[in-house]
Order: sequence, then structure tokens, then C-alpha cells
Amino acid sequence: MYAQRILEIGTLAGYSTIWLARALPPGGRIVSLEIDPRHREVAGSNLERAAPADRAEVRLGPAVDLPKEMVAGKDPSLDFVFIEASQDAYPEYLDLAVPLAHPGTLIVIDNVVRGGAVADAHTHDPLALGVRRMSDRIAAEPRLTATTIPMVGLKGHDGFAIASVQRR
Ligand SMILES: C[S@@+](CC[C@H](N)C(=O)[O-])C[C@H]1O[C@@H](n2cnc3c(N)ncnc32)[C@H](O)[C@@H]1O
Repeated sequence: MYAQRILEIGTLAGYSTIWLARALPPGGRIVSLEIDPRHREVAGSNLERAAPADRAEVRLGPAVDLPKEMVAGKDPSLDFVFIEASQDAYPEYLDLAVPLAHPGTLIVIDNVVRGGAVADAHTHDPLALGVRRMSDRIAAEPRLTATTIPMVGLKGHDGFAIASVQRR
């Protein structure tokens, strides 16, 4: 089964948006949320050149506001959510994504290891603490089951989490 509707939080230049848009079947759609107007502009022109026409849209503004519009507009449930923005707000992004999802939706959250800082009991890094609060919410959320995949490579030691929505 293909994802038809995707929400991305954090566009930057549109690199991941382009790959996700290319994976969509005809009629599929990705909405990507970006707070920085300059990034949105660059992403928009990259998408025009590299993504299938009419499948991708970058919306400008703080992510915590925009999905509420989507809910108010009764957008159909999302099939896939990719979260990669400010990690101190990861718990809030998760809270926004879950009500827009349905059983079978996958929520992928990037940069959740942060060189091991997330597992360091003594860290004061607000980004690592944001990831940890999000992990605590996933653990306490009966609708989700999740795992973290650590990665070590040229960009150092990090990883991503995959949460699967089990029920409404
Ligand atoms: C790591 S980059 C995203 C990279 C992109 N997903 C990719 O793989 O090509 C994070 C982006 O999130 C944006 N961002 C940060 N806080 C945000 C917020 N509250 N709402 C929307 N976008 C935000 C930043 O401006 C930045 O462009």
C-alpha cells in the first residue's frame, strides 16, 4: 500500500520533500511545513524543478499552528508523517501528528540520538531533552508502537525513530 497523504515538518531546501513527493502515487500529496521564508522560497523553486507537478506544497509558518488548520479544514487522515524540525518542540509535533493519523500511519522522526546525548542522564542540551520528552510521550501513548534505528556515518552518530499508529 502506498502513502497517499504525507505531512512533513521541517522543509529546509526541500531535499526530503522531493524524495517523498517522488514516492507518491498519482493523486498523492505532501504538505511540508517551514518556518523560515527564505527556506520556503528556495524549497519552492527546487520542488518546481525536481518534484512531480502538483504533488508537493510548502506552507510557511510555525508547524504548531499549521496542522491545526488542517484539522479545522477536515483534511483526510495522513498516511505518513516525517518530523525533522526544532527538536525542543518534538513532543508538540508528535501531539499534532497523532490526531491526524489513522491505524497504519507511520510517523518517522529524525535526529533522535544526537551523538548519544539523548541517553545521557546528565545532559542539559535542550534539543536532547526535547527528544527525550517526545520518547516518553510515545511510550505513554497506547495508539503508538515505536522503535529507534541508530546510525553511524559521515555525519556522526544519530538515528531516527519509526512510530506506527495501531489504533485511533
Ligand atoms: C533539519 S531541517 C529539515 C531538513 C529536511 N527535512 C531535509 O531532509 O531536507 C529543519 C527545518 O525545520 C525548520 N523549522 C524549525 N522550526 C520550525 C517550526 N517550528 N515550524 C516549521 N519549520 C521549522 C527550519 O527552518 C529548517 O528549515
